[in-house]
Amino acid sequence: MKENETIVLKSPDEIEKMRKSNLIVAEILAIIKEAARPGVATIEIERLCEGELKKRKVRPAFKGYRGYPYCLCVSVNEEVVHGMPSRRVLKQGDILSVDVGIEHDGYYGDAAVTIPLGKIPDEAGRLIDAAMASLERGIEKARVGNRLFDISYAVQSYVEENGFSVVRAFVGHGIGRELHEPPQVPNFGTPGKGIRLKAGMVLAIEPMINAGGSEVVILDDGWTAVTKDGSLSAHFEHTVAITENGPYVLSRP
Ligand code: MF3
Ligand code: CO
Repeated sequence: MKENETIVLKSPDEIEKMRKSNLIVAEILAIIKEAARPGVATIEIERLCEGELKKRKVRPAFKGYRGYPYCLCVSVNEEVVHGMPSRRVLKQGDILSVDVGIEHDGYYGDAAVTIPLGKIPDEAGRLIDAAMASLERGIEKARVGNRLFDISYAVQSYVEENGFSVVRAFVGHGIGRELHEPPQVPNFGTPGKGIRLKAGMVLAIEPMINAGGSEVVILDDGWTAVTKDGSLSAHFEHTVAITENGPYVLSRP
């Protein structure tokens, strides 16, 4: 995605359609938060998600995307993003990032959360809190007249002030009739730079943050991204519409 590619602005009607898609994503994530317990295998969470999508007659966005075989990305501990569901059993103290995307009535929804499994180490708790709060800092900058990298800088500065690092190898994205649309939304950047934000832009803002260094490595499965130094990683994502009335977080119930 190049910076000069056209950003498709969404009408208020289209934003309401995207609201529907994203509320379904939020519902699925709420169900998954309840189901993710020590002793559960990540493939069981995938099966649960499949069933819930079928019930709602919505299409998983990730399955088949560049050959990705599952509805969910499930990334445990040092896994950053794009972890694949497997027979791996979750245990007390793990942190699990779950990312889900769907398409409904022609429009996509995309969101992610990081879930603590039982009692987790203090550092893991602080990492999750910082990732969640950094997303809120970014969302707050998703306003008409601001620049794209105001969002990026708000995320990055918050994360770094808290002693953690932002992943650079993956970025957020525009979203609408496609899962990934321009512009790319990095979690790092210079405030006051980047395109000017307009009403009708819809962005998936998704900080991926590491307890150690920002570097990642892709495993031999071709998908799973892990921290290079083995440190913990957390990921939160919301789909956010920019409106004249401020940021409209479509994936927040
Ligand atoms: N939320 C992630 C993204 O927007 C998940 C994509 S996973 C993939 O890139 F399988 F679809 F690639
Ligand atoms: Co996304």
